[in-house]
Amino acid sequence: MLIKNKSQLFLLLIVVFFIPIGCVQGQLGKDNGGEYHNGMVVCAYPDAAQVGLNILKKGGNAVDAAVAVQFALAVTFPAAGNIGGGGFMVYRSAQGETNTLDFREKAPASASQNMYLDSAGNVIQGMSLSTHLASGVPGSVDGMVEAHKKYGKLKWEELVQPAIDLAHNGFKITKRMAADLNRETAEFKKLNEGKSYLLKDSLWQEGDVLVQEDLAKTLERIRDKGRAGFYDGIVADELVDEMQSGKGLITKADLQNYHAIWRKALIGRYKEYKIITMPPPSSGGVALLQLLQSVEKYPLSRWGFNADSTVQLMVEAERRVYADRSKYLGDPDFYKVPVDSLLKPAYNTSRMSDFSWDKATPSASIQPGKFVAYESDQTTHYSIVDHDGNAVSITTTLNGSFGSKIFVKGAGFLLNNEMDDFSSKPGVPNMFGLVGGKANSIQPGKRMLSSMTPTIVEKDGKLFMVVGTPGGSTIITSVFQTILNVLEFNQGMQQAVNSKRFHHQWLPDLVYIEKGALDSTTHAKLEQKGYKIIDGGPGGRVDAILKTKWGYYEGGADPRGDDTKLGW
Ligand code: DON
Repeated sequence: MLIKNKSQLFLLLIVVFFIPIGCVQGQLGKDNGGEYHNGMVVCAYPDAAQVGLNILKKGGNAVDAAVAVQFALAVTFPAAGNIGGGGFMVYRSAQGETNTLDFREKAPASASQNMYLDSAGNVIQGMSLSTHLASGVPGSVDGMVEAHKKYGKLKWEELVQPAIDLAHNGFKITKRMAADLNRETAEFKKLNEGKSYLLKDSLWQEGDVLVQEDLAKTLERIRDKGRAGFYDGIVADELVDEMQSGKGLITKADLQNYHAIWRKALIGRYKEYKIITMPPPSSGGVALLQLLQSVEKYPLSRWGFNADSTVQLMVEAERRVYADRSKYLGDPDFYKVPVDSLLKPAYNTSRMSDFSWDKATPSASIQPGKFVAYESDQTTHYSIVDHDGNAVSITTTLNGSFGSKIFVKGAGFLLNNEMDDFSSKPGVPNMFGLVGGKANSIQPGKRMLSSMTPTIVEKDGKLFMVVGTPGGSTIITSVFQTILNVLEFNQGMQQAVNSKRFHHQWLPDLVYIEKGALDSTTHAKLEQKGYKIIDGGPGGRVDAILKTKWGYYEGGADPRGDDTKLGW
């Protein structure tokens, strides 16, 4: 579906918000209670959280646990957990060393700028979403191999095996997952003629056991051959056959040429906190730091959580930052992203100088900012801290819920529809209503711009928070709010995650609010000033960990999904 008007975007945001993307206490979400000093895993599905905790207890570090959770989510949370997608990792060692890993998908070598346009130059609806052409070259398996090579402690085989066991023996599905699978049945059948993965003759019910034999075989190949088990050999053959059966573009060479990239972490400050986050090709880190700079000098804690001035200020900052995102953010290996200019505190302060407390700034009057010059230059999130205090923040995705909904025949996994994160045509919104232009145009081998914002916060040189979320365009604003909930509004981690959220993204010029986010007086005051407020949804499933001042870890697992926090 391509967003053509506000009501379509509204519907899409509702769907995105109410599907289980993201592991807190949902129906089967778990929390093993208590104060944990030795480590914690917070992720989108209980069985995957258990896998991560087992690895930590066996002496694995945070990266080992992350690798095991990534593969376990590919089995237990097929809406977003994946081997057919990509993601980003932000890492901070116990000693304070930081690093990030970009395992984002890439456009295939034969992709081209106008590949989703018809002969009249119009975007062909759905082509970048639910066809074989919608998939970027998957990055998750190479990402896990690279992360393990650099930081892993336990043996690779030990980390992949729990996912194989879950796929082979099956696991009990939650009520929410049963509903998701039932919702997608018709689409799965339409797009996957003659294939049976994730399909059942009758309706899925809570407690049904989901067995995935083909996926177990694929994971065994990855266990035994590492990178070559996916990008070469039988699985690569199956993937390329699948592509050819649907006129897709990914070739053997695309798979062999895929490599995850280590990138220097993007570091910023907010008051006494150090923010360690993801650089481009995610827009998430840059936008988060811009948002924090935009509001830093205002007395947020005095105004209070979701008070009218607080909401107004944050919305006005969001409007401006998303306008910048549309023009300046893209894959830094293809487009010179002006990160330094965007992150000059004076720039962001001056961007905020033209708004009036009396009246909403119309988005039509906001254009991406001008710089003096360029200087040199359905998703899921999991947060993990190990016994030594090493921390990992990973957001990974197929893009839409269940990605393109196309399975690789015989290999038992879903392909992403990440190509929709490119700008198919300047100014035409993607599935999240986001617009873009040259910086994010399609080019062979380029990574599509993301909003994923895996982040780690440090205070006084020590680990303070690990945070991130799914939620498409709302990822950035959800991470922004969750951080401020703790830093400014004195909320604990779980409370900060539970708190109701709101979202603005420049275009369309609307404030999306989760039910109950604003009291009626605040709502009325903002409307009087000209803010167009509509019910959206919660925006994501935030899974986070806070190191409390008492020294133990407090998890925040999003109650909007089956998300689970387990510590020891
Ligand atoms: O990378 C991005 O920004 C999107 N592909 C994320 C998609 C997403 O979060 C969907 N889930 N809610």
